[in-house]
Amino acid sequence: MVGGVCVAVTLLTCVLGGQALDLLRAAAPSGSEYQTVHCWCSSYPNVTLCSWPEPSQSPPKQYVATYSERHIQSVTRECHLIQPGSPSLFQIPASSSSSERLWLCYLPNLKIFTDYIINVTAVHPSVSSTYMSSFMLEDIVKPDPPEDIRVSLNNTNLLVEWSPPSSWANLDVLPLKYHILYQWEIRGILQSVKLGPLERTKLELRGLKSGRPYLFQVCAKDLLDLGECSYWSSAVKITIP
Ligand SMILES: *[C@@H]1O[C@H](CO)[C@@H](O)[C@H](O)[C@H]1NC(C)=O
Ligand SMILES: *[C@@H]1O[C@H](CO)[C@@H](O)[C@H](O)[C@H]1NC(C)=O
Ligand SMILES: *[C@@H]1O[C@H](CO)[C@@H](O)[C@H](O)[C@H]1NC(C)=O
Repeated sequence: MVGGVCVAVTLLTCVLGGQALDLLRAAAPSGSEYQTVHCWCSSYPNVTLCSWPEPSQSPPKQYVATYSERHIQSVTRECHLIQPGSPSLFQIPASSSSSERLWLCYLPNLKIFTDYIINVTAVHPSVSSTYMSSFMLEDIVKPDPPEDIRVSLNNTNLLVEWSPPSSWANLDVLPLKYHILYQWEIRGILQSVKLGPLERTKLELRGLKSGRPYLFQVCAKDLLDLGECSYWSSAVKITIP
């Protein structure tokens, strides 16, 4: 989700993890909700998605979402809409409030190193807000999290293994690297260590304390540092005997 403080003005720049994301707010009828469109590329360069939350206070809306290259805005294409809660091949980003219902749209065939603008407009029950976001694929790469995290004991060492996100299609050409986060508590205070980046999909750790539960998570990032690391994977807990 777009974090940070965004002030609603006609043109605003919301600084997000070091990247500037333009959010243009077209003149919207008064009373329409302010919302944000968040886009990310979960498999470079072929899978790009945008999402925005369905306003919870109002009746369900229908949207039209179109996108164009910034320098040829006359040529627009429609983004493939996926309603909140409907099954899809795509992973929904971990959201701060899980009750939030997210619309998704899929943008096929984007070109690399090209600025795009997406326009999301609520068209039903009435034409209301238009929200726009601009991006270049290379800035919004964010893989899905690694899968199948396994933690096992090898003698006194711990072996952490994982699989790349299955949605990342071009592993041979565009490899990923990984960060590992492990956490434990000492007298109720959370301690954490972040390791990496690693290009392999396993890590052996020694010197962990027996009797103490540890939580392990992994994130995946493009090897050449395009975009950002995925959300942390689901956590695996292990207690050293
Ligand atoms: C955004 O899309 C809506 C609906 O298709 C359209 O009416 C509006 O003119 C577009 N806005 C811009 C700034 O392109
Ligand atoms: C287990 O540990 C041994 C010795 O420390 C090592 O040679 C071996 O490669 C490890 N096994 C795995 C699966 O990593
Ligand atoms: C990505 O899209 C390009 C062009 O549409 C296609 O040639 C290529 O095979 C696709 N790659 C994958 C991994 O789907």
